[in-house]
Amino acid sequence: MTSRRVLITGAGQGVGRGLALAFGRSGAEVLVNDLHRERSDEVADEIRSAGGSAVPAPFDVCDYGSVVSALADAGPVDVLVNNAGNAGAEGFGGRAKFADTEPADWEPFLRVNLYGVLHCTRAVLPSMIANTWGRILTIVSDAGRTGDPGGAVYGAAKAGAAGLTRSVALENGRHNITANNISLGTMRTPMTEPLWAEHADSPQAKEILRNYAVRRPGVPEDVTELALLLAGDQGSWITGQTICVNGGYSFGL
Ligand SMILES: NC(=O)c1ccc[n+]([C@@H]2O[C@H](COP(=O)([O-])OP(=O)(O)OC[C@H]3O[C@@H](n4cnc5c(N)ncnc54)[C@H](O)[C@@H]3O)[C@@H](O)[C@H]2O)c1
Repeated sequence: MTSRRVLITGAGQGVGRGLALAFGRSGAEVLVNDLHRERSDEVADEIRSAGGSAVPAPFDVCDYGSVVSALADAGPVDVLVNNAGNAGAEGFGGRAKFADTEPADWEPFLRVNLYGVLHCTRAVLPSMIANTWGRILTIVSDAGRTGDPGGAVYGAAKAGAAGLTRSVALENGRHNITANNISLGTMRTPMTEPLWAEHADSPQAKEILRNYAVRRPGVPEDVTELALLLAGDQGSWITGQTICVNGGYSFGL
């Protein structure tokens, strides 16, 4: 990835951090985005300490004005990884059946998981088109592919983001721009850490893992090689796809 500039959103921890470190090792210049400035700084420092190139890029992907102005300051990017997301303010704790939710409950899911992806994708496309090269990777969730009882709006937002990817792929392939989704199963990251750290042997954790052929949660390192392939020149004829990294979740259901 030498000579490529890569913007990774939500890269301050979890999957995004794992991707940022891997892109840093691959020789790319990494723009480390996060809502929390100190997390962007820490991961950028970590990449530089390992000999890589990185710049902190703290901004809120939900605020289109901030996205546009951060990118105007940072300059064009070759690769966008739409990773910032959340499963709700309380993560796994905030789950509810759709019939028990109100429109006000939907906002936090839609803002980051769907609008965040719309904002960043829209902001990077003009310079990718001008450069006739670009890669857009969007981290989605099996919640959006298979449905997710208790996570309906999160799943809807992720499915919306995945749909955007397909249209962006069709519209921009002629400019050597590819767009793909990586659909994750349940991961062990700060988002879900309470589930594994405090309740690893709980009925809830066991129930989740029962649906996985490989009976463990995913870790960020499970995602990095696929992301590097899709982001590189070797991935130039893979576009509009949703590729699952999920330990076999759902194919045996
Ligand atoms: N953890 C899982 O089990 C799981 C499963 C499927 C999909 N995913 C998806 O993978 C991605 C990464 O998840 P994770 O588990 O690493 O999450 P995480 O909560 O551990 O980390 C997400 C990072 O994104 C940042 N972020 C949140 N909102 C932001 C915003 N508006 N602007 C900029 N940064 C923001 C957070 O500050 C945090 O550092 C998300 O899109 C998530 O929906 C996760």
